[in-house]
Amino acid sequence: MTAQLTAIQEDITRLAVTAIVNAANSSLLGGGGVDGAIHRAAGPELLDECRLLGGCRTGDAKLTRGYRLKARYIIHTVGPVWRGGTKGEPDLLASCYRRSLEVAAENNIATIAFPCISTGIYGYPFEQAAKTAVTTVRETVKKLPLKEVIFCCFSAKDLAYYQKLLGQNAA
Ligand code: AR6
Repeated sequence: MTAQLTAIQEDITRLAVTAIVNAANSSLLGGGGVDGAIHRAAGPELLDECRLLGGCRTGDAKLTRGYRLKARYIIHTVGPVWRGGTKGEPDLLASCYRRSLEVAAENNIATIAFPCISTGIYGYPFEQAAKTAVTTVRETVKKLPLKEVIFCCFSAKDLAYYQKLLGQNAA
């Protein structure tokens, strides 16, 4: 059976899923936005583990433990900075979702939650990013043994758009 896809509005650091995805930068040493929130909630041990990873390329993903989070793991991925859309941004963003799901499957993770990667500080237009996210996840889960993929939106407006894409009724 293919994984169930759902969208919710929540602070991703509060979710009791097996893994949450972090929208990190290539240093993996923390930052603002959701990255800062995850590091604050997980505690300083997260940075200690991140230092050992040697960074991460844009479009790739790396796993750490979740430390003080309810989530057991964090999958750190690096989204593209939006530079007008002609610098490979859609492929790189799709790669973030695909690689994160592959890393989840390799580690027997069945439930995973994504933030809206690249759509904050990195400036990726939200609706284009959401379409790429949903299309890529739908395609990738067909080949992987995952149970549930959650699109964790920070705003009600973002959630409404994901619900439309997923054909999910508003609560
Ligand atoms: N829970 C869920 N979503 C959140 C949360 C949260 N606690 N906080 C923010 N968001 P951003 P990016 C949403 O800027 O664009 C960092 O400095 C936010 O509303 O966090 O990929 C990194 O170190 C938006 O929809 O990530 C990088 O340098 C989404 O998360 C850079 O920012 C992504 O916004 C990455 O930029």
